[in-house]
Amino acid sequence: MSLKKDLKDKLSEEELKLLRRSFEIIGNIAVVEIPDELMSKKDLIISAIISRHKQVKTVLRKIGEVNGIFRVARFEKIYGKETETIAKEHGCKFLVDPTKVYFSSKLSGERERVARLVGKGERVLVMFAGVGPFPIVIAKLSKAKEVIGIELNSVAVDYFKKNIKINKVKNVVAIEGDVAEIIPKFEGKFDRILMPAPYSADNFVHLVKNKVTKGGFIHYYTFESENLEDRLPQKVEEIFFRNGVIVKKRFIRKCGSFAPYVNRYVLDLEYLGEV
Ligand SMILES: C[S@@+](CC[C@H](N)C(=O)[O-])C[C@H]1O[C@@H](n2cnc3c(N)ncnc32)[C@H](O)[C@@H]1O
Repeated sequence: MSLKKDLKDKLSEEELKLLRRSFEIIGNIAVVEIPDELMSKKDLIISAIISRHKQVKTVLRKIGEVNGIFRVARFEKIYGKETETIAKEHGCKFLVDPTKVYFSSKLSGERERVARLVGKGERVLVMFAGVGPFPIVIAKLSKAKEVIGIELNSVAVDYFKKNIKINKVKNVVAIEGDVAEIIPKFEGKFDRILMPAPYSADNFVHLVKNKVTKGGFIHYYTFESENLEDRLPQKVEEIFFRNGVIVKKRFIRKCGSFAPYVNRYVLDLEYLGEV
């Protein structure tokens, strides 16, 4: 989805340099970053997007980074009316309003990757579940017994509950609340816990202690500078150790970028026991 290519003959060299190469499509909404200096060319940019992506009915300009506890970015609507849409991936549909809740279609490949790892009969917990994309893709693509998602933003939980119905997944449960209050109350253990909140996941590591079966997995998401990638597995294993949990990294990969030279990484950690 290269905007630069599509606008090559319409913008000057200088203007092209200011333009971000790609943008995100969520259902029939395009999310684009346009610097102030290029706003006089916004109609050309919008035309380029909608002529290539006929399904786009609304264009949102991102004017503030993902922020706050609910991780919602600030947007300015520059085309169309509706900000609620249905994003489709892996045979699932997600009703979502990106101006009110976090959603990223860029994590679609990661959701499928994790879902394919889930074994028959597993009990899975998804912290920070948002509108439910991880739990619902897991339920659709695996034979998990139960998938529980916890989310703090009540608007996201409403969408999550609607998405459970839309996707007809019977083994998914949406719980509204703070993971720090809810997880300690759970009985029994999970085979797998996902922690898809890369900005502060280390504050929640203590919650997994005694909650995962030995040999089970934690999928831990975090941001790290590219030049520190090699040391990341050890750093994360130490964070868990300090929280009383012994884990071993079995897999690591970059799954997105956050800023220049800062990436989102996922580490698949095998749960070996408690300290
Ligand atoms: C980066 S978003 C990820 C959402 C979802 N996993 C996805 O991929 O679309 C992090 C989410 O965690 C939620 N959140 C933040 N703190 C929380 C907490 N203490 N307990 C539960 N959810 C929380 C936010 O509201 C936000 O929806």
